[in-house]
Amino acid sequence: MSDRKLTLTDPQSGKSLDLPVVSGSEGDPTLDISSLHKELGYFTFDPGYGMTASCKSDITFIDGGEGILRYRGYPIEQLAENSSFLEVAYTLLYGDLPTSDQFSGFERDITYHTMVHEKINTFMQGFHYNAHPMAILAGVVGSMAAFYHDKLDVKDPEQRELAAKRLIAKMPTVAAAAYRHSMGWPSAYPKNSLPYSDRFLHMMFSVPAEPYEINPVAAKALDLLFILHADHEQNASTSTVRLVASTGANPYACVAAGIAALWGPAHGGANEAVLKMLNEIGSVKNVPEFVKRAKDKDDPFRLMGFGHRVYKNYDPRATIIRKQCHEVLAELGKQDELLDLAMELERIALEDDYFVERKLYPNVDFYSGIIYKALGIPTSMFTAMFAIGRTVGWVSQWLEQAANPTRIGRPRQVYTGPTERSYVPIQNR
Ligand code: ACO
Repeated sequence: MSDRKLTLTDPQSGKSLDLPVVSGSEGDPTLDISSLHKELGYFTFDPGYGMTASCKSDITFIDGGEGILRYRGYPIEQLAENSSFLEVAYTLLYGDLPTSDQFSGFERDITYHTMVHEKINTFMQGFHYNAHPMAILAGVVGSMAAFYHDKLDVKDPEQRELAAKRLIAKMPTVAAAAYRHSMGWPSAYPKNSLPYSDRFLHMMFSVPAEPYEINPVAAKALDLLFILHADHEQNASTSTVRLVASTGANPYACVAAGIAALWGPAHGGANEAVLKMLNEIGSVKNVPEFVKRAKDKDDPFRLMGFGHRVYKNYDPRATIIRKQCHEVLAELGKQDELLDLAMELERIALEDDYFVERKLYPNVDFYSGIIYKALGIPTSMFTAMFAIGRTVGWVSQWLEQAANPTRIGRPRQVYTGPTERSYVPIQNR
């Protein structure tokens, strides 16, 4: 806490209150309003929590104005260029880049926990063949609380760490199984001789009838996408995980809630929505018409993959993905007219006053779907892919909160309903 403060005076009562300014290691100064109600009798109104810091965190830093994203201080561009998803996972969980011994121990632990209880596979068979993979993921991860409850004491740091590793290790297994279920394919068990992202591709696409060869370009691209999605401070799904965790719920329940929050098209569901939108636009010549629709307040259409609550500049992850999109398509020898369409849409939108004035730029998901499509991942799986990467962020934030428990999360409201009135018997209504 610095000595900085902001003094508020209530003109009605004449009372004054010093609100201390909380300063982190970086970022905007933030007012500590915890004494406001007690001293002056006011709550604050902040729908969507756009102005509210819900916690202190050492994990991820974003400067939305400058387009900066750092995990544990390391710029996302450097991690994308040099690191691997599992190394990033270690760094997010433990705070620093691992030594080679630390990394091999961590990789061994994650690999050891990749299999799921066989009854989870049976449980999965209960879903209809066309269930959305995110519905399956939310249901199955929630059910894991029933399978891995042995000694699960959230007050015990070792048990917490084990649950975090289990979630990181098993999420790809469950996500791939959800896809295989929709295809009517038999279960594929994790092949632990493979690295994390290769193993996921193998679980997704291998069939018993023929050998499956992993394309290293695809595995590398996937690893990078997982890195870019790994954490993003207090976004909707992570805040959900923290809110549920504040009640003392078990980590599988917390992460299942995070998955549900991620699913919406305003959040992680945007990657699926972008591809649907690009298909609907269909051709470069239709771009101006759709841009016009996106600006029309009477039309519910929005440019999916555009805009962000925090970034009022180019999302740094979008810059990396845009470049990677070209490289992956070239290396896989694929062409996708959706990429040309996406680039034209971006060009026109970024020249348009509506988008310029509102600082609406492409976000992480504007280009990610084109890469997933090139890797053969079906559109319905896009948000599940996001969930695999983000699991690391969810469990890192959960571990941070569980180590320093906060009060139960419990926002207030401005009540706008009827004032007191008397019950009227049904025959008199
Ligand atoms: N298309 C058209 N107009 C938009 C868009 C868009 N994609 N995004 C925001 N706007 C407009 C709003 O209508 C609003 O206009 P107004 O000031 O005239 O009323 C203004 O820009 C500010 O937008 P808000 O809705 O206040 O922004 P908010 O921070 O609440 O929402 C969000 C951010 C949800 C990401 C929004 O930009 C959006 O819906 N984008 C499309 C969905 C998307 O891509 N989501 C993924 C986000 S990234 C992630 O979760 C991984």
